[in-house]
Amino acid sequence: MKDKFLIACFARKGREMTGDSPRIAAMVLDALRKKGIEAGQFTITPVETYPDDHNELDAVVKTEISSHSRPEIVGKYSGMRHVEKIVLIVPNWRDALPPAVTTFLDQYDFNDKLIVPIVCHDGGGGKNIEGELRKFLPKTWIFPGKRSIQPILK
Ligand SMILES: Cc1cc2nc3c(=O)[nH]c(=O)nc-3n(C[C@H](O)[C@H](O)[C@H](O)COP(=O)(O)O)c2cc1C
Repeated sequence: MKDKFLIACFARKGREMTGDSPRIAAMVLDALRKKGIEAGQFTITPVETYPDDHNELDAVVKTEISSHSRPEIVGKYSGMRHVEKIVLIVPNWRDALPPAVTTFLDQYDFNDKLIVPIVCHDGGGGKNIEGELRKFLPKTWIFPGKRSIQPILK
């Protein structure tokens, strides 16, 4: 049977296991499994490696966001047309979606699907990111997401 649930998270290269978003994705998958719900999983990973240094990374991200760039991402989720509900776990980058997440959103038809966003952040919350998702996907039901996941992690 094709999965009706998808857990999609963002992880830049080198952070696939250790980033906050993949860690939360693993927790969500585990919680669903305990309820007997099987979900598909997809990690949104940019093809390009980002700098490790925070200031350099921040400068790259600033340019990507201001130029509305769509960085290439690794792979595609083949079962998307069967998916009804997506938990989308992303970090807050400069109060916006990481541009590679927009690349992911561009690749499928999300009309009539439900997206539950979980935004990881360092205090800035996820309100703007939720707004960005609503603007970008006007025909998708964007569930009011969790904005303060950090206390669970730290
Ligand atoms: C380039 C960059 C920009 C960021 N901008 C913000 C921000 O504007 N507000 C905020 O609260 N956190 C910001 N953060 C912090 C991350 O959202 C936070 O550490 C998150 O938990 C990281 O998730 P990850 O480990 O899955 O990447 C930023 C982090 C990076 C790398």
